[in-house]
Amino acid sequence: MDNEITYLGKVIRVDSSTVEVEVSDEIPSAAPIINGRLYKIGQIGTFVKMPMGNITTYGIVSSVSNTPGKTDDSQVSQVAGSRFLSVQLVGEKIGDDDFEKGIGTYPTINDEVHLVIEKDLFDIYGEKDAGSIEIGKHSSSDNLSVYVDIHKLILRHCAILGSTGSGKSNTTVSILKAILNDYNGSRVILVDPHGEYSTAFPNAKVYKINDSKNPLFIPFWLMNFDELAYFLVGAKPTDDQRPEHRLFRELITNFKKRNFQLKSGDVNPDFITADSPIPFNARKLWYEMNWWLNATFSESNKDKQTKDTAKLLDDGNYNELKPAEFEPYPMSNVAPYKSKHQEYYSYEKKLLSRLKDSRFDFMFNPGDYKDESSSKDLHNLLNEWIGSDSKLAILDLSGVPFEVLDIAIGLITRFVYDSMFWGRNESYTGKNRPLLLAYEEAHGYLNKNDNNSYSKTAVERIFKEGRKFGVGALVISQRPSEISETILAQIGTLMALRLTNSGDQSIVKSSSPDNLNSLIDLLPSLRIGEAVIVGESIKIPSRIRVKLNNPRPTSEDPKLVECWSKTHDISDENYKSVVTKIREQKL
Ligand SMILES: Nc1ncnc2c1ncn2[C@@H]1O[C@H](COP(=O)(O)OP(=O)(O)OP(=O)(O)O)[C@@H](O)[C@H]1O
Ligand SMILES: [Mg+2]
Repeated sequence: MDNEITYLGKVIRVDSSTVEVEVSDEIPSAAPIINGRLYKIGQIGTFVKMPMGNITTYGIVSSVSNTPGKTDDSQVSQVAGSRFLSVQLVGEKIGDDDFEKGIGTYPTINDEVHLVIEKDLFDIYGEKDAGSIEIGKHSSSDNLSVYVDIHKLILRHCAILGSTGSGKSNTTVSILKAILNDYNGSRVILVDPHGEYSTAFPNAKVYKINDSKNPLFIPFWLMNFDELAYFLVGAKPTDDQRPEHRLFRELITNFKKRNFQLKSGDVNPDFITADSPIPFNARKLWYEMNWWLNATFSESNKDKQTKDTAKLLDDGNYNELKPAEFEPYPMSNVAPYKSKHQEYYSYEKKLLSRLKDSRFDFMFNPGDYKDESSSKDLHNLLNEWIGSDSKLAILDLSGVPFEVLDIAIGLITRFVYDSMFWGRNESYTGKNRPLLLAYEEAHGYLNKNDNNSYSKTAVERIFKEGRKFGVGALVISQRPSEISETILAQIGTLMALRLTNSGDQSIVKSSSPDNLNSLIDLLPSLRIGEAVIVGESIKIPSRIRVKLNNPRPTSEDPKLVECWSKTHDISDENYKSVVTKIREQKL
């Protein structure tokens, strides 16, 4: 065997999952050409194999040196040209069986070590089967497709990490396209904070704020009581002891209990609490508070100031935010008397200003989902987002005001997760039709330092428990060091593109499911569109190239040189239209 062209040298040390190899100084060439391909010996990140009878063990070259690793230099006779390779063992192949990760039989001293050539790689990666998708080509060979196990990729969760411009969005498109093309029953929701993906998926359903065809609505009444109190009137759970807060809870509970007859089906009012996702009209809530604040009564005693004793002149109109009008009260202490129900004073003002801000309409005035009398209910929302004819729904959040982005993503995630949890045994959803939720720009809202993040809490739940109910998640981020540790710890498959920041690299290293530091060390030197893939869904940790997709997401770099080289015509400039777009938050 040692006269074979693939022969490299011998094992001189075995140390748990690492072996050290002494490269023979008699090998014919440091860069042999085998079947027309050039192989360079001792390239970091390349594979080597150690045949032992019918078992072949495979490893990855992690370092190269001209002195042996852990041996005292003085004891080693230095042979000119000799080199030592440190190799991390990754898996083995027994006879004609498929390649398996993990090591059953370890090599021993003096075992032969050989180069892995293209044919071996074909053996390792095998053919595409019913449970896999192609994610790219192997970096060392354009002919070699790399497949991942789709079940493990989705349900054990995955991440695409890399510096800005390294090709994350393009990789996301490649993966989603492979899923959608190969699996007719697949379903994916892509949370797209910058609205860049609709161009890449012309057949996807895209929901966007203010869009005339498919407007995105996230009804505010999906919020639990604490969230409602915070986003409607700026109150915190610690305000629970204050009288206005108690009344506010009572008011909302009553609104919800009254609306138990719903388009999605009636709900037993006994089970309805202030936290239940039951529609009610936020404008009616304001109207009610305003009514009690401004009313006048024929009675001065607070207990007798009721709807029956009120001196109403005009009903007003809650939909138009027009308050009710009452007979004015005189300065002297005679009827009609001023209202003594003043508890809502500050809440009413805050709620009104929230409702008047049209930027929040997708949430507080959500069109067809506005209230109990609207034409649509939550089953319609699920039909739109994950119903059978939409394999991919893109939720374009580019118009969502920054203040509510976190709660918006939190509500989407919680609602979709709850639908999978409670629908887990239905034939058409849950475990019987799993779902992938993909989160682009995840560092923005899944930040480990944000203790009050609604989206982080909801997404962490998917990472911890989603698998059992058929929910998988993909996070995409340029700042892995800012992402929640719970999420990083649960990532089954990690796709790392070029990553230059050392803090981010070490996070990727420590959350990498396979302990393969040598591959992760390559991260700063990867080319655009090149990725290192490690984890449960891939047979062997690999360095791959992802193809550039067409059509692409609108995340492409501007053509700076071209733009700056030409002279621009001043008459083309119309900044009025830009300002209107800023104001309307609409392109
Ligand atoms: N596989 C690839 N091959 C060649 N060029 C690529 C590849 N992937 C991406 N590019 C180019 O790199 C640029 C950035 O790609 P992409 O938008 O996917 O990066 P990104 O990591 O998502 O960046 P950001 O963090 O800013 O979102 C694009 O102009 C694209 O044309
Ligand atoms: Mg991107």
